[in-house]
Amino acid sequence: MAHQNDKNTAQQQRTNLAIFASGGGSNAEAIIHYSYRTAAAFRVALVLSNNSRCGAMERAMMFNIPTMHISSATHPNADDYAQAIISALQEHNVEMIALAGFMKKIPQEVVRTFSPKKRSRVFNIHPSLLPKFGGHEMYGINVHRAVVAAQEPESGCTVHEVDGDYDTGTIIAQKSIAVLSSDTPESLAARILLYEHELYPEVLQQKAQEIQNDRL
Ligand code: GRF
Repeated sequence: MAHQNDKNTAQQQRTNLAIFASGGGSNAEAIIHYSYRTAAAFRVALVLSNNSRCGAMERAMMFNIPTMHISSATHPNADDYAQAIISALQEHNVEMIALAGFMKKIPQEVVRTFSPKKRSRVFNIHPSLLPKFGGHEMYGINVHRAVVAAQEPESGCTVHEVDGDYDTGTIIAQKSIAVLSSDTPESLAARILLYEHELYPEVLQQKAQEIQNDRL
């Protein structure tokens, strides 16, 4: 019986998630909201940013979620920077990471530490249908400008595993929408962002459940 109880407790134990963000933090907030659902399989244990004053950090503080500011300013040495991130994640018992508008490349050591069995537990959301319109310069409004300029019939968002390069990891889920002839880059960005807020927490829920199952 005691064994059964232990198993139930393990099943119910939520997966600890860290969100990395640099900007406004609307995706971070959507993920935090989802984490308060009764059936959520994850809890947000930490919000980490390279920008101490960004909207994402402010939103996290509003929810009393621990925040951490780590950047090349706080840690000029690349090895120290990576180690500081890993230590912060370990301190908060983080098991998976969601990049949500994080503007810095995540150090390889961090990806390696969070990739057991060669499956990355670091995820990202990108506002296009990858592999189209991904890569180093493709962030923020640049993505939507390129989509509109190319007269693409559709665009959308992609959640993918992070492999340490820009937007190249295994694709997990996509949501596509039509690009309207009246769309500007800004209107397209706004419409896609609403779908990001639905898709990303759902994928994280599924990944958190997989991690729980791995524990049993
Ligand atoms: C989103 O469009 C996301 O796809 C991209 O960066 C943006 C972040 O927006 N990676 P927000 O800070 O979550 O509002």
